[in-house]
Amino acid sequence: MGFADTHAHLLPFWDDGADSWETALAMLDMAEQDGIDTVVCTPHILTPRELLQEDVLWARYEELVERAQRKNLHLTIHMGAELFVNPDLDLSHKIATLAQNGRYYLVEFPMGMMPEFVASGFLKKNQAGHRTPVLAHPERYIRVIQNPQEAYTYVERGALLQINAGSLLGVFGSTIKEVAFQLVRARLVHVVASDAHDLKARPLVLSRAFEVVAAEIGQEKAGHLFSENPRRIFRGENIIKEHPKPVVAATKRSFWQRITTNLK
Ligand SMILES: [Fe+2]
Repeated sequence: MGFADTHAHLLPFWDDGADSWETALAMLDMAEQDGIDTVVCTPHILTPRELLQEDVLWARYEELVERAQRKNLHLTIHMGAELFVNPDLDLSHKIATLAQNGRYYLVEFPMGMMPEFVASGFLKKNQAGHRTPVLAHPERYIRVIQNPQEAYTYVERGALLQINAGSLLGVFGSTIKEVAFQLVRARLVHVVASDAHDLKARPLVLSRAFEVVAAEIGQEKAGHLFSENPRRIFRGENIIKEHPKPVVAATKRSFWQRITTNLK
């Protein structure tokens, strides 16, 4: 089974992802060797104004595809974006939905505090628009760290949850790792992605995270999160979902203890 990745900062000269064409191609090479056969470029889009520059990004995406072919890389490379939450997002833009499927788009909420009305207003608007937000790395948001059950309310309001492979491996600290596993056990995770930025700290690899998730929920269900669901998202099809269970907190440490562990 090959893996498919729904979140990667591959395009150079735009955000804090690949810093050169060489890095971008080396990231793709690493991905291919890790068993990933499909990826999507998801440059950060922080404001509706940035979406207006989609032609620049699209040209860069086409150049990446061309350079990858010249390097004899065989992955399928899609185009998309990671959109910072904003009620004025215009999702009709070509790069707004993943692989231009017109349905699923990757969105991130702020890592820090966010008023409840921002999330609820945003999710309500999307229910009305029949589009499905794929929420990037909820396990890293303070609201979710503080109360993992919060993730359940996002799912209840129509979002899919994408957690980072690195979170499951402890790259962002033990608290985030713990929250990520709580969400996996509660069947609240729909996709695991690399959120790759470079070759070392945040690489484009999924196989190690797949192993730890398979040990937790079995190969078949892990396959849904690392392969089948990402492919269905790219095609704009319904994904495989399970009924969520209550999130069981495995820690008795206080919120502040958990936050400070995280900063170490
Ligand atoms: Fe990202």
